[in-house]
Amino acid sequence: MRVIIEPDYEKLSNWAAEYVISKINAANPTAEKPFVLGLPTGSSPIGMYKALVKANKEGRVSFKHVLTFNMDEYVGLPESHPESYHSFMATNLFNHIDCPKENIHILNGNAEDLTAECAHYEQMIKDAGGIDLFIGGIGPDGHIAFNEPGSSLTSRTRQKTLTTDTRVANSRFFGGKPEDVPATALTVGVGTVMSAKEVLILCNGHNKGRALQAAIEGPVTQMWTISVLQMHEHGIIVCDEAACENITHGTYKYFKDIEKDNL
Ligand code: GLP
Repeated sequence: MRVIIEPDYEKLSNWAAEYVISKINAANPTAEKPFVLGLPTGSSPIGMYKALVKANKEGRVSFKHVLTFNMDEYVGLPESHPESYHSFMATNLFNHIDCPKENIHILNGNAEDLTAECAHYEQMIKDAGGIDLFIGGIGPDGHIAFNEPGSSLTSRTRQKTLTTDTRVANSRFFGGKPEDVPATALTVGVGTVMSAKEVLILCNGHNKGRALQAAIEGPVTQMWTISVLQMHEHGIIVCDEAACENITHGTYKYFKDIEKDNL
């Protein structure tokens, strides 16, 4: 696992955006061989999305031949709701870049048959040749996408019940009322993320300190689903100083040392 420690959120966001740009450009994607990108929502990726929009406008990267698959979506929230992940992605990324509509995939939390929707999503990822780079955030309880503590580490896309912790954490987007946060969501599984060729996790802020510690120093456990990244061949965490409060000084120094000659 690579752990990149950046001084602050802005630098973390720029690092992540530059990494994505370099990966897309290196792949030189075409209509026949698109680049497949897994994308998150939440506050963590907002800075990276801003930097990607800017780079797209400057002509430094194109999304014309990029297929995207989002991680998750609430169940039962209308797509047009300002807090739906459909709205979030349109507002923060898709309305501002040259990614064709037909290349964008987001789970439909209003599908009549939610099980079939999830199976179809997995199939579409397979048909696309798998995800080249899956980007994610982490919840304060170490969840990735909506794979809450206790989720199977081999899980695939399915419906999950959100924990009270997550509903409380996300209530800041729902007028501070946890009961207004949808109770369930459709989410890619931990196994779905792990099947990506590469995984890049963004982790910022003091309130992610325990999750970062569990991800890097803890055992692999379903109680901190992000910890499974330790088993991925190409896992990267990019974090800021504020998130590093719970890792040991030795761990901090080690990753700083080995990364100092890298970009
Ligand atoms: C939600 C999302 C996750 C995200 C997490 C952290 O629960 N389903 O994908 O990583 O929140 O959100 P934030 O980045 O706002 O801290």
